[in-house]
Amino acid sequence: MEILRIEGLAKIFGSGELEVRALEDINLSVSKGELVALLGPSGSGKTTMLLCISLILEPTSGKIDFDGQTIFQKNGWAGVDMRRLRREKVGFIFQSHNLIPFLTARQNVLLPLNLIGIKGEKAENRARELLEYMEIAHRADALPALLSGGEQQRVAIARALANNAKLVLADEPTASLDTARGTKVMEILKKIARENQTAVIVVTHDVRMVNGFDHVYHLKDGRLNSQET
Ligand SMILES: Nc1ncnc2c1ncn2[C@@H]1O[C@H](COP(=O)(O)OP(=O)(O)O)[C@@H](O)[C@H]1O
Ligand SMILES: [Mg+2]
Repeated sequence: MEILRIEGLAKIFGSGELEVRALEDINLSVSKGELVALLGPSGSGKTTMLLCISLILEPTSGKIDFDGQTIFQKNGWAGVDMRRLRREKVGFIFQSHNLIPFLTARQNVLLPLNLIGIKGEKAENRARELLEYMEIAHRADALPALLSGGEQQRVAIARALANNAKLVLADEPTASLDTARGTKVMEILKKIARENQTAVIVVTHDVRMVNGFDHVYHLKDGRLNSQET
């Protein structure tokens, strides 16, 4: 079953001489539980594409359907509460973990739960469960600065999964990790797709990391080419 459909998506930054065509005529369909890799050199539009999909950045033109609803079309966001949709249905994992520095691992995971109205013991239980799933529960009360890069990224993944997202987007989640830890993070993302029927889109520029993905797409100068694995 399809969870995401993108048609003719374009994103242009600036205008006139400063115009940058970051994305051009992107077409993509992603099913529930599908694990998708997005490869491409620096500046090819990978981050821009994830930001458009995650409802953070407004596209210039095209159409986006997400979870049975048109969320973007030609003239703008299709009368949807983007912030709410994002909080409830999308998980985002950034290149560097992006944890809130003055909150513990546990509190970082609690935050998105509180934002969607899950509070108290229910939220605490869910946070513990997620940290256990990511094998980082023993560090629940540590501040991010006291965790290693790999540990921080595991907390960030726990946080991204807190809302039981239908779609998880990861922007070069292994870039700041060594190969062994990077491989482990990729294994976790695969597990999420398989076990929770979550669609997962992972941006990377490391071809070695995309073993076992359902689809591998290449972005080049803002254009997308499909390639079966
Ligand atoms: N906010 C912005 N304003 C202007 N140009 C931008 C902005 N964000 C990205 N770009 C440009 O869009 C292109 C794609 O960038 P990006 O999506 O970050 O690529 P990637 O993630 O593949 O490295 C680049 O040419 C970049 O300079
Ligand atoms: Mg990028």
